[in-house]
Amino acid sequence: MSGISAIRVELSGRSYDVMVGQGLIAQVASLAEEALRKPTVPVVADARAWEHHGAALSAGLRAADKEIALYTVEPGEGSKSWSSLESLTDWMLDQGVERGDQVIAFGGGVVGDLTGFACSILKRGCGFIQIPTTLLAQVDSSVGGKTAINTSRGKNLIGAFHQPSLVLADTDTLASLPVREMQAGFAEVLKYGILGDAEFFLWCTNRSHDILAHQPLVLKQAIAQSVQAKARIVAEDERELSGRRALLNLGHTFGHALEAQTGFGDQLLHGEAVALGMVLAARYSARRGELEKQDAQSVAEAIGRTGLRSQIGELGLSCTGAQLVEHMRHDKKMDAGTLPFLLLRSIGDAYVARDVDLADVAAFLDEQLRAPVTA
Ligand SMILES: NC(=O)c1ccc[n+]([C@@H]2O[C@H](COP(=O)([O-])OP(=O)(O)OC[C@H]3O[C@@H](n4cnc5c(N)ncnc54)[C@H](O)[C@@H]3O)[C@@H](O)[C@H]2O)c1
Ligand SMILES: [Zn+2]
Repeated sequence: MSGISAIRVELSGRSYDVMVGQGLIAQVASLAEEALRKPTVPVVADARAWEHHGAALSAGLRAADKEIALYTVEPGEGSKSWSSLESLTDWMLDQGVERGDQVIAFGGGVVGDLTGFACSILKRGCGFIQIPTTLLAQVDSSVGGKTAINTSRGKNLIGAFHQPSLVLADTDTLASLPVREMQAGFAEVLKYGILGDAEFFLWCTNRSHDILAHQPLVLKQAIAQSVQAKARIVAEDERELSGRRALLNLGHTFGHALEAQTGFGDQLLHGEAVALGMVLAARYSARRGELEKQDAQSVAEAIGRTGLRSQIGELGLSCTGAQLVEHMRHDKKMDAGTLPFLLLRSIGDAYVARDVDLADVAAFLDEQLRAPVTA
């Protein structure tokens, strides 16, 4: 056992703890004791996460004489839909979930976002506990209260801010996660370093192998420090009003365009797109003369070293920069005709640029699309 780290997300009236460590799901009953007030606990689980770790969660609850009412969700982005939301909320109503109850969301960002949104609207809002089982969900989506589903018009366009009452990030659950999902989550870990903490960036860069190899202490520290960074930013700007929270979108505008171009499918996972997006944001900052070229290169190398793609040429896209920019025009961060871009002054110092000319971005992307792929 490597101990539990507890990080407090400070939000007046809605503060909660994020616990990070090994073996947490076995201790769920004691960690969430006050929240679980009825003998049956509603659990919404990703089918695959449940297959691997459902028994441990059941045993943890049974130890406190709790039974599980289980609702499984098909793996994949397709489950963040209106129809899944309808089925899930119907099920919650059938289970008699009340406003004072807590529903457990057990899985990756898909289950967390879907369940969180369902809980934000069920009887005008019930409680929920996040038990994230992917690295991406542990360091990012389970913390901060953004919930959403996708529609035919785009990703995450319908949603709400609804904070969980507790987050249990059990690092043991990551043992069954495919390497590619670990790498995608690792991109979001690196993001916290690149946007605000050069020392953490360096630390992650030097330990990427240990993190991806599930070295318990290092993995726990990487997750805890990421959560701490996110908690701090969310506490300052819960609803993304002041611009602080927007920093968390580093790499996401470029990344979103790549995800849209590749159809939001298996060809490019969200974290993989963010990794490429961060390289593009760094290279674009260097092109504007705001970031040392060497720093942009360090970002690309750190990402490449984890096994993630760091050059868009590797995607083999047959599109133009203008086509990628067209996707950006539909970005939900679009604000009265301008699109804020997260750029870098140095590693560890990101800022929101509101003067970016999309035609210049298209020209830059054309260059990047044509750049020869280096080994
Ligand atoms: N709310 C937010 O702030 C926020 C932030 C970032 C991303 N997101 C959302 O999160 C989603 C992506 O999350 P994700 O990367 O966790 O994807 P995901 O939920 O689709 O999970 C990825 C895959 O891993 C499988 N899986 C989950 N846990 C597992 C385990 N322990 N062992 C083996 N397999 C397991 C799932 O079945 C799935 O196939 C996107 O929908 C994105 O929009 C939300
Ligand atoms: Zn992201």
